Amino acid sequence: MLSKKMEEALNAQINAEMWSAYLYLSMSADFASSGKPGFANWMNIQFQEEQEHALKFLNYVISRGGKPVLKPIEAVKTSWSSPLEAFEDTLHHEQKVTSLINELYALATEEKDYATQSMLKWFIDEQVEEEETAQGIIDALRMISDNGFGLYTLDKELAARVYTPSTQE
Ligand code: FEO
Repeated sequence: MLSKKMEEALNAQINAEMWSAYLYLSMSADFASSGKPGFANWMNIQFQEEQEHALKFLNYVISRGGKPVLKPIEAVKTSWSSPLEAFEDTLHHEQKVTSLINELYALATEEKDYATQSMLKWFIDEQVEEEETAQGIIDALRMISDNGFGLYTLDKELAARVYTPSTQE
């Protein structure tokens, strides 16, 4: 059984993951409507992954006898001036999510909730990957700067990303 405090914190995380999904869907739409299908594809997969993260938290709350409570999703930004700006926002956002996951882990530790600590380990590892990937694309975009052919090539590369549910990784 989850403590009330832990249950509320996990519920807040469901909302944070859904907000992340909404943010990346918005980025995907912005890229798609400005002729960057590869960037749009990459963000669409990010959108799907975030929904999966939200579901992981939701199912976990249920499995521990808690009650998921879905709150409204705050508005997100709708346009970005460049791919670099979008990926810098992505990195900052993922750093924020990392700190939220760390806070959940700290609370689970304080409450001696070992099952929640164990569940959160997947997210701790996932955040390392999320930040590393966003940083890698930022590095590539900085190298490319405003070189059109470079952007075209990176767009093609990002078009190749496919969604893999984490259970199949
Ligand atoms: Fe659900 Fe991108 O962290």
